[in-house]
Amino acid sequence: MGFAVLVTTTLPFTSASTIERPRSVPHSAKTRVEIRCLSSNFDVSLSNDEKLENNASMTGGAYDFKGATTSLTYELLSSSKKITLVRHGLSSWNDESRIQGSSNLSILTDTGVQQAEKCRKALADISFDQCFSSPISRAKSTAEVMWQGREEPLVYMDSLKEAHLFFLEGMKNVDARRIYPNEYTTWREDPARFTVNGIYPIRNLWLTAKEAWREILSAPGENILVVTHKSILRALICTALGLAPERFRSVDINNGGISVIVFNKQGEAMLRSLNMTAHMYNDHVYHY
Ligand SMILES: *[C@@H]1O[C@H](CO)[C@@H](O)[C@H](O)[C@H]1NC(C)=O
Ligand SMILES: *[C@@H]1O[C@H](CO)[C@@H](O)[C@H](O)[C@H]1NC(C)=O
Ligand SMILES: *[C@@H]1O[C@H](CO)[C@@H](O)[C@H](O)[C@H]1NC(C)=O
Repeated sequence: MGFAVLVTTTLPFTSASTIERPRSVPHSAKTRVEIRCLSSNFDVSLSNDEKLENNASMTGGAYDFKGATTSLTYELLSSSKKITLVRHGLSSWNDESRIQGSSNLSILTDTGVQQAEKCRKALADISFDQCFSSPISRAKSTAEVMWQGREEPLVYMDSLKEAHLFFLEGMKNVDARRIYPNEYTTWREDPARFTVNGIYPIRNLWLTAKEAWREILSAPGENILVVTHKSILRALICTALGLAPERFRSVDINNGGISVIVFNKQGEAMLRSLNMTAHMYNDHVYHY
């Protein structure tokens, strides 16, 4: 299941970077890039020998990505950064198919707690310097479960809150579509132009995401965990890659889905993994 998904999401970025740099990529290396994706993401259990071989110098990876995106910081970072982004587990309003937005009334379900535990186990081998989480209940509870047993700080950040959707929050999707057809259709089909109470929630989310990146990237440490919500996650990924609010629906992340973005010291981003979910279906433990 996760296999097919990851093939489609991971390969294009890796292949694109080889295409941009033909000078340094002999033909045979292209094949090896693909092998890196398969082995680093999908092998359920690696022996120690396999782990040793599963590294960049053995598999044709680790090309520099300088200039791949526009810097989010415009100043030199203390170090390169690896940011792991996780969407909260199943919430009560996910389950009831209600619009959540920034409401704090939707809480993590028992299934959501189990999903958060799966995420914790899947990332048990990664040593994070700290965790940033949205302070909104469903993400906060997920982060608390995921961060159990860690001593480093768990910090709640307002810039990781979900988009504010005003009177739509709490409504069932079917009711919102029936009662506010214009707003609902724009939200689904033209998110950059979606307005509610005179504001543009998705355009605002782009500003919030840029603020979140500035805070995350200026924090000490190289390896950071971020737990938050689907729309702000889309905004974080799109802003890192230089995509506009019109592209809001070009990425999607399921409950418990893990994405990884790396930044070089210039604050330029490269998407490593999107919506990894193998751990939701088996005992997969990630090494990256
Ligand atoms: C990766 O593989 C190369 C080639 O075998 C080896 O020299 C290097 O030590 C390995 N690195 C890690 C981190 O295992
Ligand atoms: C949401 O509610 C939880 C309690 O369920 C509380 O700990 C948290 O601070 C609240 N967050 C916000 C943003 O109000
Ligand atoms: C995210 O992963 C789930 C599988 O758990 C899949 O159903 C969904 O389509 C994926 N989303 C994207 C955008 O790949």
